[in-house]
Amino acid sequence: MSILVTGGAGYIGSHTVIELLNANEDVIIIDNFSNSKPQALEAIKNITGKDFKFYEIDYLDRIALEKVFEENPSIDSVLNFAGFKAVGESVKKPLEYYTNNISGALVLLETMRKYNVKKFVFSSSATVYGEPERIPLTEDCKIGGTTNPYGTTKLYIEQILKDLYQSDPTWDIAILRYFNPVGAHESGLIGEEPQGIPNNLMPYIVRVAAGILPELSVFGNDYPTPDGTGVRDYIHVVDLAKGHLKALEKLNKEKQGLFIYNLGTGTGYSVLDMVKAFEKATGKKVAYKIAPRREGDIATCYSNPEKAEKELGWKAEKTLEDMCKDSWNFIKNNK
Ligand code: UFG
Repeated sequence: MSILVTGGAGYIGSHTVIELLNANEDVIIIDNFSNSKPQALEAIKNITGKDFKFYEIDYLDRIALEKVFEENPSIDSVLNFAGFKAVGESVKKPLEYYTNNISGALVLLETMRKYNVKKFVFSSSATVYGEPERIPLTEDCKIGGTTNPYGTTKLYIEQILKDLYQSDPTWDIAILRYFNPVGAHESGLIGEEPQGIPNNLMPYIVRVAAGILPELSVFGNDYPTPDGTGVRDYIHVVDLAKGHLKALEKLNKEKQGLFIYNLGTGTGYSVLDMVKAFEKATGKKVAYKIAPRREGDIATCYSNPEKAEKELGWKAEKTLEDMCKDSWNFIKNNK
């Protein structure tokens, strides 16, 4: 049996492929390199010493996608990482985001149905909770009220998956709500490579430490949090990747159902906590200044990850120090 991974050359996709290959799974990747590079595929091979089939196609290209299923009748499950994910960009390019994320998911699901492949793991996001109903967030907290098109695509696809499952309960679906993925593979060979000036905190911190950017702007220090700066649930990307294997295991065991899990650590760190932890872990200084709040930001967002622990036997294991060291190691190697 094979696992089709869309967006397998991207940040979270590539780390998940490594874990799948290490677990001796047969993997087929599709990617159009819209936000990734072919080198990531070489790095996966170097790290694991294993090979996989690869197709350079866009998952919106129905004919090309059907060909992948046609040529690989062994595909029995799909992990979908082929989404655009930059919050700020999504505000400027809503149609591109809705088309790529939602139409892409629809083409993929229709193709899966055509080839009778009904096991699906979807990369969702804590952003679907909008302004959190309560902290820590449990999976039954209200969702909605997303503040940007990126978040809305995740919300809509979750609804599409629920409607699909309602119409045909032979589907077997896991929706994974990621909190804030950071870090990189310990080899330093793959990691996050945002194009241009990064929006997210950790990629920004490492670039300041590396002298690529002059200083970090801390967006607001007057939030109702212990030090006034925003609090988030940062999770090491390798822990996150492992969560996908556990979700697949669950789907293989249950045969049918729709399951939703938070993938986070359950601990919130502030922006200044992150700066301090990074400096301590790497010995590098991070120059920063306090800047106004960023529009659309919330004060605090962290998970209650107990459901995933109870039902999947999955728990984030890496420490904040690992997250900082591995993020730094990757930028050092790839500056
Ligand atoms: N921050 C700064 N300066 C920066 C960048 C970020 O102070 O230059 C702060 C933000 O204000 C926030 C925290 O750092 O308090 C984290 O910000 P990120 O942009 O790294 O992450 P967000 O929590 O805003 O959003 C991220 C992803 C989304 C995802 C969401 C889920 O970008 O895709 O987590 O909670 F949906």
